[in-house]
Amino acid sequence: MNLNKIKKDFPILQNRDIAYLDNGATTQRPESVIDAIVNFYKNYNANPHRGAYSLSIEATEIYENTRNKIAKFINAKKSEEIIFSKNASESLNLIAYSYGMENLKENDEIVISIMEHHSNLVPWQKVSQKTGAKLNYMYINEKFELSDEEVKNKITDKTKIVGITHISNVLGTINNVKKIIEYAHKKGAIVVVDAAQSIPHMKIDVQELDADFLVFSGHKMLAPLGIGVLYGKNELLNKMSPFIMGGDMIEYVYEQTTTFASLPNKFEAGTQNVEGVVGLGAAIDYIENLGYDNIQKIEHETVSYAIQELSKLNYLELYLTPNRENHASVISFNIDKVHPHDVASILDSEGVCVRSGNHCAQPLMRYLGIDSTCRASFYFYNTKEDVDRLVRALNRAYKMFEKYI
Ligand code: ALA
Repeated sequence: MNLNKIKKDFPILQNRDIAYLDNGATTQRPESVIDAIVNFYKNYNANPHRGAYSLSIEATEIYENTRNKIAKFINAKKSEEIIFSKNASESLNLIAYSYGMENLKENDEIVISIMEHHSNLVPWQKVSQKTGAKLNYMYINEKFELSDEEVKNKITDKTKIVGITHISNVLGTINNVKKIIEYAHKKGAIVVVDAAQSIPHMKIDVQELDADFLVFSGHKMLAPLGIGVLYGKNELLNKMSPFIMGGDMIEYVYEQTTTFASLPNKFEAGTQNVEGVVGLGAAIDYIENLGYDNIQKIEHETVSYAIQELSKLNYLELYLTPNRENHASVISFNIDKVHPHDVASILDSEGVCVRSGNHCAQPLMRYLGIDSTCRASFYFYNTKEDVDRLVRALNRAYKMFEKYI
């Protein structure tokens, strides 16, 4: 696999002299995704589902064919189980409002992990406050992992919903969601999987996982900003009320009442982000052409090298599991007594892009006893040279701060 050849597919990586290590926040876009969007606007732009003229029919076909493509990509049983949204956060809000608010009651329990992103946490707080259901947490152990005992202790007969991130956006821990789902189902709970950080890196099969709901964002997997997906089992989505009301999600509207369209339109009110859908389709083509096997092989090598080199820096604290097989492409770190924002600024001056802050995971930070971290997150176009550049920049940052700490 020639990584420099892969890098050439990404115009921004040619145009800017950077080591882009903030893929957990958003990935870069290959030429093919950018071209697909331009082609849509140049040749197919119209509002899907709205017109009887050919251009609108063609736009509708592109939109619906992408839905089919996504259904195949994650092995959903039916394409109407795929709902387009703005991002993973909106998908999670839809589940919380349309399923959570309507199905939970006092003394029920919602169980989530302490490593959830705010988007799979704050909506459940709201559901808990409105319904009286209790919000409980599964905590991580000293290896930054969820133990089987913790899962079994927290998911009980009272649990109705389990929310779990497939991969932590801070720790890179890969959760065994299949096992958690199996256990939750035995207890009668449904499971919401946040796959935003996993689907860019690994094959997702919703039937094999038996996930009830699974969400992800396009922009973390090469697609444009502002397009997300909600997968839900047909029987659950069918019973749920719409989340956002408006055009195209209705059947008949009377002065005082409305009947709603069937799936998937029921959940897609108003004009949709068609360019986002087109871009997501092209992103899936790119990922499938490269293949998850290759993606994992490349990332495993680069990230293992990064762990090896960063572990040699004795001034650096790393927050990751020692079990390499349970760790993905995210490495959080701190230089003791130096604020991560300061470290990230110095790295930036060396052309190294990392995220610093609480990573939308304040309860996790509090649990770890820290405020924030720096985070390097990798994708298949990152190289060992990017890692070397990160290490050089970190050494420079440490030298600058050494006298003050
Ligand atoms: N959720 C994104 C991240 O973790 C923005 O960086």
